[in-house]
Amino acid sequence: INTGDRRTTLKKKLTRFDLQKMKDEGHKAVWITAYDYVTAQLAEETGMDMLLVGDSLGMAVYGYSGTVPVTMDQCIYHTEAVRRAAANTFIIGDMPFGSYQTGVDEACRNAVRFHKEAGVDCIKLEGGTRVASVIRAISDGGMLVMGHVGLTPQSAGAQGGFRAQGRTAESARAIIEDAKAVYESGAFSLLVEGVPPEVTQAIRDAIPIPVYGIGAGDCDGQVMICSDILGLFQAFTPKFVKRYGNLAEEYRKVFSAYIDDVRNGAFPGEEHVYRMANGEADRLKIK
Ligand code: KIV
Repeated sequence: INTGDRRTTLKKKLTRFDLQKMKDEGHKAVWITAYDYVTAQLAEETGMDMLLVGDSLGMAVYGYSGTVPVTMDQCIYHTEAVRRAAANTFIIGDMPFGSYQTGVDEACRNAVRFHKEAGVDCIKLEGGTRVASVIRAISDGGMLVMGHVGLTPQSAGAQGGFRAQGRTAESARAIIEDAKAVYESGAFSLLVEGVPPEVTQAIRDAIPIPVYGIGAGDCDGQVMICSDILGLFQAFTPKFVKRYGNLAEEYRKVFSAYIDDVRNGAFPGEEHVYRMANGEADRLKIK
């Protein structure tokens, strides 16, 4: 597979085997979150390997202070739009809080919904040993599961806020055990968030599946929240984010210019209006 610049090639959707091969051959997978049609279309066009319709949409789209209020229906709506825009990209549906904590049966039903209603390629869920039976059941149902350990935003309350994890040997050991449980339960890949690079490396040494990171140093690939790298999200910027643009400033410029133009009569101009067919304006006056 072409893991380089695919902008000029017809893109082929990656499979779990491609992703494993990329890891084994040392090619990094690059992905972002996407919650809407336009963003997903541009991401596919530029050659993004995967798209995550993350429950971070709670903050990035809905303005909640965390991910806990996000519902299964909200995730499905956004994932459907992303799938319509990016038919050839591997799409990850993010199981929101409450969609898998209440039992294996409900977790499987919700994972099935993601596949049937939104056409995902895999689902992601947070936790390690405590969700091992859920990962096992969904995998046994023939669906791909990506684990998520370290800083797990849905349990930010229990973790004392949105803060790095694994900074002591004890905490690091627990995260490594979580990663092993995720792998042993049948997950095909793992996302590690907000841990020191030594912990990420220990995880990579311990399990053979692709290990992706956000705020976890170098690994088999990186994911970033789209609005963070675009410089759109204003509330706060985590230490691990690199801003590649300042779209918030661009938005302000565009909105201000539009407001000025309308208020001073510069918009709409002649080029923006429809004209009646020849002679029809006169006929309108006669009546
Ligand atoms: O919901 C999300 O966007 C996530 C990120 C941490 C990647 O899970």
